Amino acid sequence: MSHQIIADLNTRYTAKKYDASKRISTEDMDVIKQAIRLSASSINSQPWKFLVIESDEAKQRFHNTFANMHQFNQPHATEASHIILFANKTHYSKDDYRRVVDAEVSSGHLPKEMYSNMLDGAFSFAESNTDSEGFNGNWTKAQTYIALGNTLHTLARLGIASTPMEGVDPDLISEVFKDELDGYECTVALAMGYHLEGEDYNHGLPKARLAMDDVVTVL
Ligand SMILES: Cc1cc2nc3c(=O)[nH]c(=O)nc-3n(C[C@H](O)[C@H](O)[C@H](O)COP(=O)(O)O)c2cc1C
Repeated sequence: MSHQIIADLNTRYTAKKYDASKRISTEDMDVIKQAIRLSASSINSQPWKFLVIESDEAKQRFHNTFANMHQFNQPHATEASHIILFANKTHYSKDDYRRVVDAEVSSGHLPKEMYSNMLDGAFSFAESNTDSEGFNGNWTKAQTYIALGNTLHTLARLGIASTPMEGVDPDLISEVFKDELDGYECTVALAMGYHLEGEDYNHGLPKARLAMDDVVTVL
């Protein structure tokens, strides 16, 4: 198949070594940030925060969060051009959702008369994913992975290399980025940039995916 989307997705890959001298342009970073913000989420909840790590100071802080585990990912903290921390709210509330419904009305997406219907009706879906302690972190985390997938695709189209990283330390990240996370949790991060020629063993390898018939069933 020769479609451009497939060509881009075949070319994107998980980078293992970054060229620390190469930076993603401001224009491309703007596209990435807009794309991430436009990600879809259940009931349009947007229960997330994205911390974009760009400065040397913030990179060093992220580097420090690898003190106890997953050191194989640590070099990306200072060598990648940017890192995004994907964070989700663990106790997403009706007040959080009210902000969304406000935006639905002010943007012209939802007629004002529908406000209460939307707030109560759609939020019942969040409630069905919330336990007796108000925890709905599994549901909100699933939403951040939609944003992650959307970002991976955007990067594929921009020709920018990336490394999704579940190999991070959520506890240390919570400590080190306490002020910015404001109670949200981060369990996955994305390093982005340009690979180091000759030293990135993953670069240029063929894709290793299960056969189409194993994963897609057309009925
Ligand atoms: C949610 C998620 C977490 C991942 N965590 C890591 C990680 O911590 N370190 C790493 O080097 N690769 C990580 N990967 C990369 C996967 O191993 C990689 O996507 C997979 O092998 C497919 O290869 P490709 O991305 O090159 O197509 C992760 C990928 C995803 C989607």
